[in-house]
Amino acid sequence: MKKNILVIYYSQTGQLEEIVRNIARPFESKKEEYDITYYNIQLKEDFPFPWPGDVFFNTFPESYLQIPREIIPPSEEVLSKKYDLILFGYQVWYLTPSIPIISFLKSGYAEEILKDTPVVTISATRNMWMLSQEKLKVYLKNLQAKLVGNIALVDRHDNYTSVLTILRWLTTGQKEKSGMLPAAGVSDEEIAGSVKYGDIIEKHFRSNDMSHLQPDLVKNGAIEIRPFLVRVEKVGNKIFTVWSNLIINKKEKRPLLIKFFKVYLMTAIWIISPIVLVLHLLTTPIFWVKRQKQKRYLQGINLK
Ligand SMILES: Cc1cc2nc3c(=O)[nH]c(=O)nc-3n(C[C@H](O)[C@H](O)[C@H](O)COP(=O)(O)O)c2cc1C
Repeated sequence: MKKNILVIYYSQTGQLEEIVRNIARPFESKKEEYDITYYNIQLKEDFPFPWPGDVFFNTFPESYLQIPREIIPPSEEVLSKKYDLILFGYQVWYLTPSIPIISFLKSGYAEEILKDTPVVTISATRNMWMLSQEKLKVYLKNLQAKLVGNIALVDRHDNYTSVLTILRWLTTGQKEKSGMLPAAGVSDEEIAGSVKYGDIIEKHFRSNDMSHLQPDLVKNGAIEIRPFLVRVEKVGNKIFTVWSNLIINKKEKRPLLIKFFKVYLMTAIWIISPIVLVLHLLTTPIFWVKRQKQKRYLQGINLK
């Protein structure tokens, strides 16, 4: 009997959609063995792309606090099957799975679809996905899904270059390089090369044993952990908790607070984070063992 594979995703720019379709290709090429269904999460009221700058920053509190929007229900075709494997594509907004993804996870349809099913998570982000993946692990556990693998594709440029290029991309739609700045997002080579992860997943799936999938994905470059970014994310989550609650609770001051948040965020990226970087480098010998342990944990699929 054919195995049912479901590919779930949301994508504004098309980058993540291209990646999940590439990863699904080895299954697609064995049509006699696999039946593949695609589920593109859709919101009743979607976000704009390119993003007007004010909307981009105004989306922060609801993103970080994981406040869902209403989704358009998945089709009968999606809901009518029991799946043998789910490829789950998601992106990060403000250190958290994006609002469309959260909206699906909180919708009630998620449990119906994900319960008791092996899931491979696939993200394509700027570079800060690590603690967001931890948040997603909790959702998957509560929905009784079985996380069996994770692929995290990122912009490999340095943290500052990728801030500039992603802002250009998200606010104007221009992904391609311009002037001194390189192209934004995941590189074309990596997007095209992501088919290899599909081959790896298919190989383990076919052998009916997914327990060694994640080490195999890691060995093949699916996960890069930059310890400095983990530090930034930890600090960022603390600060975002304060800002998001402040903005949500002071409704009448929201437009002003969003402006302050924007200034704060830029200061944090350009002034505070280089200081954190220097401190991080200076303390490397002291925390070497701890950071290596943390790295191994974040490369994995278990939840602490
Ligand atoms: C509002 C917003 C916030 C974002 N925040 C983050 C973030 O915290 N960390 C990160 O690595 N990428 C972040 N990104 C980049 C996205 O994860 C993603 O790579 C990019 O939006 C590509 O979009 P697509 O997957 O919809 O095609 C953000 C994007 C948006 C639109």
